[in-house]
Amino acid sequence: MAVNFEVPLSGGDVSEGVVRVGDTVRRPLGAHSPAVHGLLRHLEAVAFDGAPRVLGVDGRGREVLSWVPGEVPRRPLAGFVVSDEALRGVGRLLRRYHEAAASYEAPEGAPWDGETSNLDGEPEVIGHCDVTPENVVFRGGTPVALIDFDLARPTTRLFDVVTALRHWGPIADPADRDALLYRVDVGRRLRVFCDAYGLDARERREVLPAARVRFERSYRAMQVRAEGGGVWARMWRGGAGQRIRRAQDWLERYWDELDARLW
Ligand SMILES: Nc1ncnc2c1ncn2[C@@H]1O[C@H](COP(=O)(O)OP(=O)(O)O)[C@@H](O)[C@H]1O
Ligand SMILES: [Mg+2]
Repeated sequence: MAVNFEVPLSGGDVSEGVVRVGDTVRRPLGAHSPAVHGLLRHLEAVAFDGAPRVLGVDGRGREVLSWVPGEVPRRPLAGFVVSDEALRGVGRLLRRYHEAAASYEAPEGAPWDGETSNLDGEPEVIGHCDVTPENVVFRGGTPVALIDFDLARPTTRLFDVVTALRHWGPIADPADRDALLYRVDVGRRLRVFCDAYGLDARERREVLPAARVRFERSYRAMQVRAEGGGVWARMWRGGAGQRIRRAQDWLERYWDELDARLW
């Protein structure tokens, strides 16, 4: 019998105790896990290949997900991660995910992660809500899967797009960006992403206003989470709130330029 060692995984900064065991990933369960598993099972039922499969819960009370083969970006980000091709790929992947998730009828009162920010529109879909580079699996330079659905919850497609753009534009002060993204033309990148996603004109007009609202909500939500201690408090002490404030200032300062580039 093959012995499967536990290999710690540390791509993101939130979950402690994420490990790889053979072709599986074991992650701590949370209150939101049953809701997330329902979503992942739906994605499997509609044959969406861009997400891990749920395989169950192990003897140590951890969720068991399938290992998605490929490469997950690490910091500092490599050139292929900041390319236009990657940007288009993530836009298309998010669109395909939304199409697959749209037919999911989540059980009433499903315990999604609740404290994160949101916009005010009627929810249209269970969004991934955390499409960071660390949560995308690449294969041969192409984004092929989303992982880490811990923050998934009912939201609008626009909110999910804006969250992705926060990281992939990135909508961030240059001081807080990865080196290879320091000088990029963010407005152009927003347009490349929106084109690949297929965002229509009405929604595109809402991108920057949605980013503005989202930043303020994220700041508050993160502050509340940080008060609860743990990893969130550590992120807050590490300057997460200040980074949001700098991003807000940057967005307001370059608003017109970004807006002009979106079209
Ligand atoms: N199903 C999976 N397939 C491949 N790699 C994974 C998978 N799940 C997690 N990983 C790797 O482990 C890292 C951390 O896992 P993740 O689920 O994102 O937890 P968190 O961000 O909360 O720490 C990811 O960035 C990725 O590198
Ligand atoms: Mg993650």
